[in-house]
Amino acid sequence: MTKGVFITGTGTDVGKTYVTALVVKKLRKAGYNTGYYKAALSGAEEKDGKLIPGDAELVCRIAGIDKDPAECVSYIYKNAYSPHLAALLEGNPVEMDIVTEDFKRAASEYSYITVEGSGGIVCPIRYDKKIMLEDIVKTLGLPSIIVADAGLGTLNSIVLTVEYMRARGMKINGIILNNFHPGSLLDENNAKMAEELTGIKIIAKIEPGANDIDADAALLASAYEYPEVIS
Ligand SMILES: Nc1ncnc2c1ncn2[C@@H]1O[C@H](COP(=O)(O)OP(=O)(O)O)[C@@H](O)[C@H]1O
Ligand SMILES: [Mg+2]
Repeated sequence: MTKGVFITGTGTDVGKTYVTALVVKKLRKAGYNTGYYKAALSGAEEKDGKLIPGDAELVCRIAGIDKDPAECVSYIYKNAYSPHLAALLEGNPVEMDIVTEDFKRAASEYSYITVEGSGGIVCPIRYDKKIMLEDIVKTLGLPSIIVADAGLGTLNSIVLTVEYMRARGMKINGIILNNFHPGSLLDENNAKMAEELTGIKIIAKIEPGANDIDADAALLASAYEYPEVIS
């Protein structure tokens, strides 16, 4: 059976895709058969009349997944808005049944499946049906990893994200600090304080421009668990 993890972030553009690509690359290199799935992608570029799933393309290329990136994403929107607003403009709103089916299909091809979220943890996915991102996390029954920037202001964003997720019953199996500058007083102290204030382990620190993760593959793999949706 496949294990999975949900990659969320303290906000949009914090580096969820960049970090996910490196996590999947690291695990695959260490022999873990790891794949990628994303329910809804916004802000896609258009090429020859087709929307390009940029996040999936990047992860597949960096991590060496030989698969059509379009198969890794259920919904692709052109407008760089939250999926609920993009779908109001473009149609094709998210159906939870499709997400569940596509996730199960993606998961069935791997031993480890890495699911990237959209935006931060508070993200409306489809508001006529009141679907929020957390409903996807809960429906799939996945634990999460939080990606956060390493710099100034991150403690506020990390603690707010952790407290929100805990209050709503979401399990957090680790934090990854992105754009971490080793030796920087601020970044090093943020790493220490984030662990103190949340009780959650920083499982990796990613430097600017990094091609690799300086973390134990087994530790990263231990953040994955069996999804509740697959039984
Ligand atoms: N560690 C890093 N080093 C260099 N560039 C980064 C790093 N992390 C993120 N970026 C860049 O920052 C931008 C936003 O990152 P991205 O992974 O797309 O964020 P998210 O998926 O959270 O929206 C992208 O252009 C990405 O290439
Ligand atoms: Mg992304």
